[in-house]
Amino acid sequence: MNDRYKSILALRAIRTFDDRAIDDADLDAVLDAARWTGSSKNTQNWAFIVVDDPRQKDRLCGAGDFMDPVRNAPAVICLVQEPDGYEFDTGRLAQNIMLAADALGLSSCPVTLHREEIAAEVLGLPDGTRCRYGIAIGYPTTTSGAAKMGGRRPLVELVHRNRYGR
Ligand SMILES: Cc1cc2nc3c(=O)[nH]c(=O)nc-3n(C[C@H](O)[C@H](O)[C@H](O)COP(=O)(O)O)c2cc1C
Repeated sequence: MNDRYKSILALRAIRTFDDRAIDDADLDAVLDAARWTGSSKNTQNWAFIVVDDPRQKDRLCGAGDFMDPVRNAPAVICLVQEPDGYEFDTGRLAQNIMLAADALGLSSCPVTLHREEIAAEVLGLPDGTRCRYGIAIGYPTTTSGAAKMGGRRPLVELVHRNRYGR
């Protein structure tokens, strides 16, 4: 297996981080990887809000139920879906951000903003836009690691040929 393939399989959600701020060059590179994500008809109906102000981060934590990754991270990149955008494209964005972060020595964790109205208020979103997901991001510490509940279902349970069922 080559290294690129291995790094895809090895990508884990990391929920604890070093306190240090993300270098501007690293953050720009991650955001550029987000920018280059493919979208339906290349519409790119999205925006990214980097929240690194501790007070703003704190307020945003009121929008989700499992926000420890954000509390622990120096920043969270909020993925804004603009009018006519698709949630599928947001998912692609998230994965590009996480893979780019990993390639640059950063760690990350997706978070769900279950109460979108709170997220919209905190982020100052205009009507017609929404933000349901963010990516907590930062440098790992020596003790940062994946949650114990890891692993994946085997392919034999997941893959079907031509029609559902076997
Ligand atoms: C759409 C989505 C939303 C998630 N929301 C949260 C969240 O709110 N808080 C959290 O700690 N992890 C969240 N995660 C991370 C998942 O729990 C994690 O990807 C899953 O447990 C697999 O972990 P692993 O990739 O480290 O094996 C989310 C993941 C996805 C894909």
